[in-house]
Amino acid sequence: MTAVSLRHISRRFGDHVAVRDLNLDIESGEMVAFLGPSGCGKTTTLRMITGLIEPSSGDILFDGESVLSTPTERRGAVMVFQKHLLFPTMNVAQNVGFGLKMARVSREETAERVKEILELVDLPGLEDRKAHELSGGQQQRVALARALIVRPKVLLLDEPLANLDANLRITMRHLIRSIQKEMGITAIFVTHDQEEAVMLADRVALMFDGVLQQVGAPDEFFRTPRTTGVARFFRNGNFLRGHRRGSTIHTDVGPIEIVSTSETVEDGPSVLTVRPEEVRLVNEETDQENVVPAVVTSLIYMGSHTQLTVTIGDTPWQIQAPAAFQARNGDTVRLLLPRGHVSIVADDDTATTGSAEATLAEGSAVL
Ligand SMILES: Nc1ncnc2c1ncn2[C@@H]1O[C@H](COP(=O)(O)OP(=O)(O)OP(=O)(O)O)[C@@H](O)[C@H]1O
Ligand SMILES: [Mg+2]
Repeated sequence: MTAVSLRHISRRFGDHVAVRDLNLDIESGEMVAFLGPSGCGKTTTLRMITGLIEPSSGDILFDGESVLSTPTERRGAVMVFQKHLLFPTMNVAQNVGFGLKMARVSREETAERVKEILELVDLPGLEDRKAHELSGGQQQRVALARALIVRPKVLLLDEPLANLDANLRITMRHLIRSIQKEMGITAIFVTHDQEEAVMLADRVALMFDGVLQQVGAPDEFFRTPRTTGVARFFRNGNFLRGHRRGSTIHTDVGPIEIVSTSETVEDGPSVLTVRPEEVRLVNEETDQENVVPAVVTSLIYMGSHTQLTVTIGDTPWQIQAPAAFQARNGDTVRLLLPRGHVSIVADDDTATTGSAEATLAEGSAVL
C-alpha cells in the first residue's frame, strides 16, 4: 500500500504548459479517476508519476518520500497504456510474465504466477495464444494481468477500456475495481468519460487544460459542482444569475431559497444551478417557494423520460420531464427548483446565456 502525493507539479513542452501546478494527495489503496477532455494533461500526469518524464517543477512523493530521483523500473508504479497494449510476437504467458522475467524471477515461479493472475482476470488457460488471436477485451485483460503480476505499488491505467463495447466496458470496470480493492493497490484511472469515472473511482479529479478543477467523491460533482464548467462537464447546463443575500438568491424571476452553505460564500452576484433531473414541473395553483415560470422551446421524447428545453427569462434550461409529459412550444410551465438541490457555482465562463442544447450536446467541447 502506497500513498501518492503530487506537490505542485507542472510540465511544459516548449511554450505549452500541459500540466499546471497540480496538487493532490492520493491515499494508500485508493482509486482516483483523472477525468477531463482530450489534451487536458491526463497522460502527461501519469507519465510523470511513473517516471517516464520529469515534472518541470514540483515534487512527487510515494509514502512521503520523493521519488523524482528514483528511476522508473524501481519506482513500483506500473502503467497500462492507452495504446499498443501487447507485444505482438509473444504469446499470452510471455506477455504477462514479461515483468517477472525482467526482474529475474525463476521460470517455475513465473509460470505459477501467470496462471494465478490469468485466473484473476478471468482468462484461464489462454497462455499459448498470440495477441492477434485474442478479442479486444481479452487483450485488455492480458494487459491488465501483465501490470498486476509485478504487484505494483501504484497502478496507472490510461483509458484501458476505450476500445471496448459498452457491455464489456461495464464488466471490465467491475473486474478492475474488485481486483484493485482485493489487492489493495493505489490506482489512478484515466478517462474522459464521466460515467466511467463515477462508477469506478473513490474520488474523481477533474482537469481542464492542465489545471485541476475539482477533486472529490463522485456525487459531489452532481450535487455541488464548483464552477459552471464543472457542472457542464457533468451534463448540467442550467444556470440562473442573481444576487445572493443570506440564503436567498434574488433573480429576475423571483427569489430562490437555498440551503445555507459554507460561511465563506459571500453575498453578491451569484450563479445558481439545479440539475435537469431535479427540476420539477408543478401546476398553476401551487404557492410553494422556488417556483418560477418558464417557456417551452422544445420537447424530445427519450423513452424513459422527455427532455424538455425551456427558457427562464432568456436563459435556456433543460428539464427531465416524465415520459408522458406533453406541451407545445411557447407554452408557459411552472418549475419547482427544490431548495435542497439548488447550488451555487462560480462563473468560469460567459457562455451561460448560450444555447443549453448546444452546450449539453458538446459537453466538454465548450470548455
Ligand atoms: N511529448 C510532447 N511534446 C509536446 N507536447 C506534448 C507532448 N506530450 C503531450 N503534449 C501536449 O500536452 C497536452 C496534454 O497531453 P496529454 O497526452 O497529457 O493529454 P490527455 O489528457 O492524456 O489527452 P487524451 O484524452 O487525448 O489522451 C496536449 O496539448 C499535448 O499535445
Ligand atoms: Mg491521454
